[in-house]
Amino acid sequence: MTTTDLIAAARDAAAHAYAPYSRFRVGAAIRLTDGRIVTGCNFENASYGLSLCAEAVALAKANGDGDLLNVAEIAVIGGMPDGTAPVRPCGRCRQVLNEAAQRGGRDIVVHCSSGDGATIERHLLSDLLPLAFGPQDLA
Ligand code: THU
Repeated sequence: MTTTDLIAAARDAAAHAYAPYSRFRVGAAIRLTDGRIVTGCNFENASYGLSLCAEAVALAKANGDGDLLNVAEIAVIGGMPDGTAPVRPCGRCRQVLNEAAQRGGRDIVVHCSSGDGATIERHLLSDLLPLAFGPQDLA
């Protein structure tokens, strides 16, 4: 599974986005340490504030399968299909990703793609969320 494949899986997941309010469709694909892929898409709600981001949905799926500790990489793609700006995880999703990173004992690679797929950034979660508060602070 290459980065291109992981982004393609995220793009496929975005097709299931429920985003009637923002019309900003996002897909996320997690690669687990054993190579399995877990996907998610954003899931909005009429009360707006209850909306779930694609990354959070994918992470909750991984956790529900017993794989919270096994998250290696995540790819995120979204916005308009011809959008040129990469989608980067929101602050809340960075914190949720940090839970998986600290519990799993590894940094997580975060690939951020524009909707048109032409611009792809590669980050480490530790760069996106420096000096993170997490489970290790409560140990
Ligand atoms: N969204 C995500 O799913 N992931 C991101 O990284 C950025 C934003 C969603 C939340 C909401 O449904 C819509 O995009 C607009 O903010």
